Amino acid sequence: MQHIRSSEITPEHVYLSRRRFLGSAGALGAALALGACGATPAAAPATPLDGRTDELGDRLNSFEQITTYNNYYEFTTDKQQVARLARDFRVSPWEVAVGGLVRSPRVFALEDLLGFEQEERIYRLRCVEGWSMVIPWQGFPLRRLLAGVEPLASARYVRFETVLRPEEMPGQRDRFYPWPYVEGLRLDEAMHDLTLLATGLYGRSLTPQNGAPLRLVAPWKYGFKSIKAIVRIDLVDQMPRSLWMTVAPEEYGFYANVNPDVPHPRWSQATERRIGEGGRRPTLPFNGYAEQVAALYAGLDLRVNY
Ligand code: MTE
Repeated sequence: MQHIRSSEITPEHVYLSRRRFLGSAGALGAALALGACGATPAAAPATPLDGRTDELGDRLNSFEQITTYNNYYEFTTDKQQVARLARDFRVSPWEVAVGGLVRSPRVFALEDLLGFEQEERIYRLRCVEGWSMVIPWQGFPLRRLLAGVEPLASARYVRFETVLRPEEMPGQRDRFYPWPYVEGLRLDEAMHDLTLLATGLYGRSLTPQNGAPLRLVAPWKYGFKSIKAIVRIDLVDQMPRSLWMTVAPEEYGFYANVNPDVPHPRWSQATERRIGEGGRRPTLPFNGYAEQVAALYAGLDLRVNY
């Protein structure tokens, strides 16, 4: 495995040159993405690079859509202003402390995280607010990171925490929210192959507005579970209390599985607006990933455990 110092990590070409692609997307798409980025690292593709689709046949959203319509309350609640306000956010150097109920706690530097074999995964992202996108992420399964720290038998849940930097994140000066942003998964959810730690999208480094340098992606859950700019990951024995559970417990539960049959108290979840499309489309149970994940919830009442 190559090793590079953190002083070298930011330039995109360094990052891209180290990255290896795997998975169903195939080498061609990856090669196109790499070629485009290598030749013109500053130019963001305004449209999908190659018209690829997800496994349901839905087209990818464009790089532009994915990076200009964001939820990131540490910066602002205005989706169209996140990119501008996050532009100078420092993503290097970066460390992620992984600990709690583990045999081998460890602090990972960004370059350690990029040393995990990176794959491309095309996932739908369904926000609890009722909009969705199809996003080609790069990253690696969370379970590979967790395996390295050796969870103890007493570990039941995983707790994630976002960086606390009010000097750089104007939204964190708003005392209404109990910063830092916290999220959690059950350990079996965290170990599921779909659960990704994302380091990039569209063949490029992750942008600050999308959660650089490291964010979670659990595609069968509402988007708020996919916590951005992670600095701590702890294995714990109690169900973690997320920021949204603290702010509005009757609206946002721990599980947050996409479920068209359970309305949000203030709106229906039966349909969604795909960014870039007119009209609305039906929302799928578990966001279309039921075959892979429904068994995790056998015997659990998903109306109570929303
Ligand atoms: N993570 C942090 N730290 N802060 C946030 O405000 N918003 C969440 C999630 N992760 C959020 C976050 C919500 S509500 C959604 S829908 C997704 O990020 C949006 O991800 P995107 O901006 O990359 O599309």
